[in-house]
Amino acid sequence: MSHLTIPEFQQYKKEGKKITVVTAYDALFTKIVEQAGLEIILVGDSLGMVVQGKSNTLSVTMEEMLYHTRMVSQAAQRALVIGDMPFLSYQVSVEESVKNAGRFLQAGAAAVKIEGGLPVLDRVEAMTGFGIPVMGHLGMTPQSVNQSGGYKVRGKEQAEADKILHEAKALETAGACGVVLECVPSVLAKTITEELKIPTIGIGAGKGCDGQVLVLYDVLGLFDDFVPKFVKPYAYLKADALQALTRYKEEVECGKFPSDAESYH
Ligand code: KIV
Repeated sequence: MSHLTIPEFQQYKKEGKKITVVTAYDALFTKIVEQAGLEIILVGDSLGMVVQGKSNTLSVTMEEMLYHTRMVSQAAQRALVIGDMPFLSYQVSVEESVKNAGRFLQAGAAAVKIEGGLPVLDRVEAMTGFGIPVMGHLGMTPQSVNQSGGYKVRGKEQAEADKILHEAKALETAGACGVVLECVPSVLAKTITEELKIPTIGIGAGKGCDGQVLVLYDVLGLFDDFVPKFVKPYAYLKADALQALTRYKEEVECGKFPSDAESYH
């Protein structure tokens, strides 16, 4: 079985086929995501929050991202795996960013994602120049949470909307293979999608994007520390897990588990 390629991913837009993306951080969930037939898996630095329990993504390291990227890449048979470059892995210099992006490809990812617009254009150009596909990420960019003052919708004001559109076009010109639009008004995301040749992947950006991305544990109803407006849980696995573990404890305590069926004779 072969992986979805970057040109095939881009062809989806030309054919008007929607692209479904979800994050994954380990082999078990990667196999489930693959069985469900989703096109792209993002090894997101959101793992800092949903796996490591931190309040933001800033402390996630390259080594941690590569560890999770290896697990996902080894399990993925068909999906295109994108590695999310963590804070400080691409901000310092073009040289470091190319080297770190290359390490994601060595760990099995087919592409990387970086946040930001104008400040990362030279990184995008350098990486793509060396054959490393890069996805951009505009709008609400979690690695800039201290600058922006929180996880807020971006591009409501005309000037900021114009800037985001301009940066999306600049990312495309620099060679980005696609762009994530996070927490921007639907009308802005639709305009960007219409103006770009590369696919847009929205999260909290409405239905006008070429595809959608969500954090896996949000889709499955596993993570409820906070649930943003744009999240739709398609299952309630936290409730199921709680019920299962409570019953297990009760049955151990009252001697119902293990029964003869779970014992060796
Ligand atoms: O880290 C992440 O999971 C992401 C997506 C939510 C786009 O960047």
